[in-house]
Amino acid sequence: MRVCSRRFLHILVLFIFNSCSFQHQKGTEAASAVDVSKMSYEQVRVSVIDKYCTGCHSVAGGNSGGINLESYANVVADLSKINQACFVDHTMPKNGSLAPQDAALLHAWMQAGAPEMPGGAPAPENPGGSVGHSISGVDPSLLSYQNLNEQVFTPSCIECHSKKDNGEGDKGGVNLESYATVTKNLDRLFVAVFYEAKMPPKKPLSNTQLDLLAAWIAAGAPEEAPVLKSTFSSIEKIVISQKCIQCHNPKGKARHVPLTNYKDLINPNSTVIVPGHPEKSDLYIDISKAEDDEDRMPPPKASKRLSDDWIGKIKQWIDDGAPEN
Ligand code: HEC
Ligand code: HEC
Ligand code: HEC
Repeated sequence: MRVCSRRFLHILVLFIFNSCSFQHQKGTEAASAVDVSKMSYEQVRVSVIDKYCTGCHSVAGGNSGGINLESYANVVADLSKINQACFVDHTMPKNGSLAPQDAALLHAWMQAGAPEMPGGAPAPENPGGSVGHSISGVDPSLLSYQNLNEQVFTPSCIECHSKKDNGEGDKGGVNLESYATVTKNLDRLFVAVFYEAKMPPKKPLSNTQLDLLAAWIAAGAPEEAPVLKSTFSSIEKIVISQKCIQCHNPKGKARHVPLTNYKDLINPNSTVIVPGHPEKSDLYIDISKAEDDEDRMPPPKASKRLSDDWIGKIKQWIDDGAPEN
């Protein structure tokens, strides 16, 4: 049973077709998001792995292709191959295909870092975004409908998916000229682009376009880009879960400095955040470092420097005493 959540997502959101389908939306309401923090391996095992894969990828099935998918550890060890086979080459499952809602579930779970338990940390060595399209590298300020329209829909889709006087437009009955029509068709769009890989039919999207589209859908297809506020919940949702948690979780590269929840940040035994004193707070000091400083957070190899606006908002929150608001 999947749960629809009103709360915006943690690492990422992808829509699930069953109970949270965009088809149930009315008018131009913003797309509702599924809380990926409720996803677990158990759900993926029941809905996908045991249903479509272990017939061949088990000891009894002869471990086809040398791949065994009978445990969480084995699935995680082969995540990038699974991604390649199911979402890039479209060779698996052999002799069949995943139902759209099951494909979306598998994809969303992998994008969330393949957590074992609901709300669990991403699988070791497979932080969120390291499989499929690299959502975590996309700057959230780019995630507005206007930007998606400029970067993706207008250059790559509108030619065939707009109203035409001669009645030839809206191919497949799909119009992609407005926020309302894009969100209305979002489930079909996801499947056509990411799972069946049949759209656009001739000129495939670039990786940059795919990352942007995946990140936008994962963020719940918002009309406006998220705006950072000087509050813990906003900083957690927009900055930490998108730009830091992939390393700063109990199994990640920076496990010595966990940033998983409020208590981790405001730990009196550490100087990650010293309420009221940004200049003494490691987090503020590190995000303020120069673009090419190798001690900068997030590290130059992982991501660009946070914008000055965001750094200012985080400073303000620490100045305000870093409340749990
Ligand atoms: C009918 C049997 C069958 C089913 C069902 C099946 N596979 Fe496979 N799989 C194979 C065989 C056989 C190979 C070996 C390569 C080949 O023949 O294509 C393989 C290879 C693979 C590989 C390795 C590809 C590589 O590049 O090394 C992965 C990963 C994989 N399968 C994942 C899956 C997943 C995930 C599912 C379920 C969604 C699945 N398979 C369902 C038979 C199957
Ligand atoms: C050159 C023309 C062309 C372009 C460009 C194009 N499409 Fe399509 N699209 C079609 C045609 C033709 C169909 C109907 C046949 C089909 O479903 O394959 C279609 C169908 C669809 C459907 C419905 C699929 C279904 O199975 O219900 C979606 C969703 C879609 N397109 C999305 C997109 C998106 C998103 C883009 C841009 C990233 C895009 N298309 C670019 C021609 C195009
Ligand atoms: C690609 C991985 C990665 C990302 C992404 C990342 N960090 Fe780090 N961070 C590290 C590593 C590795 C260390 C060193 C950890 C250790 O000492 O064990 C570190 C250390 C830190 C420290 C402690 C440094 C000190 O001075 O003691 C802070 C604070 C920090 N990071 C904040 C952040 C914040 C905030 C973000 C997001 C804006 C972020 N990091 C993103 C890898 C990362």
